Amino acid sequence: MQPASGNHWEKLGAVVEFVEMRQQQQQHDASISPAVAVDQVLRLLDSFAQRREHWLKVAGGAKAEVLETAFESHPWQPHEVTLECGTFLGYSAMRLASLAHKRFSGVLGARIMTVEVDPVHACIARHFIDLAGCSRIAEVSIGQVKDVLPRFVENFGFHALGLVFMDHKGTIFHTDLESLELLNLLGPQCLEVADNVALPGAPLLLWHLAFGPSWDLKVHAMMEFLEPNTEDWMAVASYQGPAGQAPPAPPSWQRLSWHTDHMRRRSAGLRPTEGDMFEQDRVAYSRHVRRHYLSAGITALPWHGPVESADLSP
Ligand SMILES: C[S@@+](CC[C@H](N)C(=O)[O-])C[C@H]1O[C@@H](n2cnc3c(N)ncnc32)[C@H](O)[C@@H]1O
Repeated sequence: MQPASGNHWEKLGAVVEFVEMRQQQQQHDASISPAVAVDQVLRLLDSFAQRREHWLKVAGGAKAEVLETAFESHPWQPHEVTLECGTFLGYSAMRLASLAHKRFSGVLGARIMTVEVDPVHACIARHFIDLAGCSRIAEVSIGQVKDVLPRFVENFGFHALGLVFMDHKGTIFHTDLESLELLNLLGPQCLEVADNVALPGAPLLLWHLAFGPSWDLKVHAMMEFLEPNTEDWMAVASYQGPAGQAPPAPPSWQRLSWHTDHMRRRSAGLRPTEGDMFEQDRVAYSRHVRRHYLSAGITALPWHGPVESADLSP
């Protein structure tokens, strides 16, 4: 059965208990520095997610490598911050906070602003970020990305974003990105990193990045975190400044986008009459979405790890 199924709220209760209990045991003996505390919390989340019924929808494994390599490749300016859309439990936000702390001693690219619509997810993320000692660097805002964005202009000013990580809902990635462009929030060469581009898919974002003159796009192919047979793609694109619109996406891409949302709801157990999503359904759906992309000439390079792929700027 699709690993995300099962009782979502029970699983969230279990993950909080798991992290709190083990973290308390490990901290008992020694006073632990913030860098160690964050690694500890991340390791605990990784080990919780290993059990099939505990699978967590977080960007771990190769996906974390793509995100972190992009973060390191950006020429950070002192005023720039990172925006993550879709916090869930704060896993990626803590990874980026840890990296910002190690690489830039908390000075450049130091702030990780992350937005989460679900208040329960947001509260758990805040709790984990606190346990990990990164609440000085990573901050969770509650709300839909589209509603929270105008506040970022007030708080940080124009051109404040050095990196945007989209991991919330593939069918609205492109509209949220267009809002960021219109609000003048993107800094020079701001990197847009998007997860789940092939599974369940983000066709309209990919169209915008591939055919819009403001973006320079690279696409990476990898296996889904803890799902060794299921291929997904991540997009990494560099902002070239406002240069006009992409041509409108064809109707077949609009239909595909609608359908990816349908699959997303089915994966979350919200379409019980259509049955659960099994591994073979996810493998086949990813292939279907990728075929669409390939027919428009959009290809992905296999991800071989951070060493070989060190320069991620497209
Ligand atoms: C895949 S999870 C994010 C995982 C996280 N980026 C990580 O790797 O640790 C997606 C999250 O996005 C949230 N979400 C969905 N739509 C959203 C929206 N419009 N605005 C903000 N958050 C949203 C969901 O509630 C969910 O917690």
